[in-house]
Amino acid sequence: RVLAGAPQDLAGRHVVVSAGGTREPIDPVRFIGNRSSGIQGYALAKVAAARGAKVTLVAANTSLPDPAGAAVVRVGSALEMRTAVLEAAASADAVVMAAAVADFRPVTSATSKIKKREGEDTLPIELVKNPDILAELVLRRTPGQVIAGFAAETDDVLEHGRAKLARKGCDLLVVNQVGEDLTFGAPDNAGVVLSASGPEREIPRGSKEALAAVVWDEIAALLG
Ligand code: CTP
Ligand code: CA
Repeated sequence: RVLAGAPQDLAGRHVVVSAGGTREPIDPVRFIGNRSSGIQGYALAKVAAARGAKVTLVAANTSLPDPAGAAVVRVGSALEMRTAVLEAAASADAVVMAAAVADFRPVTSATSKIKKREGEDTLPIELVKNPDILAELVLRRTPGQVIAGFAAETDDVLEHGRAKLARKGCDLLVVNQVGEDLTFGAPDNAGVVLSASGPEREIPRGSKEALAAVVWDEIAALLG
């Protein structure tokens, strides 16, 4: 029972979920983006609300209907996502970063549309690193707060995931294998939930709601 008739084990809890993919502006009409659909983050929000949580969903550039029972905060860029997530996290029992946050943004965003120029066949765009929101959440963690991340990896998925969990210092890291036709925009997902304090849990390919339910099981157990 993932949605209807779900256990109310998150009643009285405030949870924050980020979803979608950030867009980093190049000029007023262009951006650097990524392939995240937001479906997994929305599924996390939907399932948490069904389990009784107060849910804040920080959504970056998704075109999905608001999940029932979630307060949705819409953002565009990684910097906007950082502000919204950190603000909501201050009062949260758990935070799940399911969003694909751009690692870099253009150093400057032109205020006018960039035009082609005669004789210039390349257009260098300098990028600067974005803040790591998940790492900041860990630094600002409130007592008892549970923090989870997602990682899409290609080769040596588990090895990369374990190293990332240790590096980020979060409690849980859900690792997906990505590649052709896998994960992006698809209704289903598979993965492994890595835990800083407990065993690894493999989640067979199934709906993104089913994967969300396992993540909330783990979080509910950590919240106690
Ligand atoms: N994340 C974040 N802020 C960033 C980048 C990533 O909060 N600037 C979060 C993502 O939302 C995700 C987790 O960190 O929950 C892992 O993202 P990932 O891109 O796999 O990790 P990175 O540290 O960016 O490493 P990589 O170089 O592999 O992209
Ligand atoms: Ca990254």
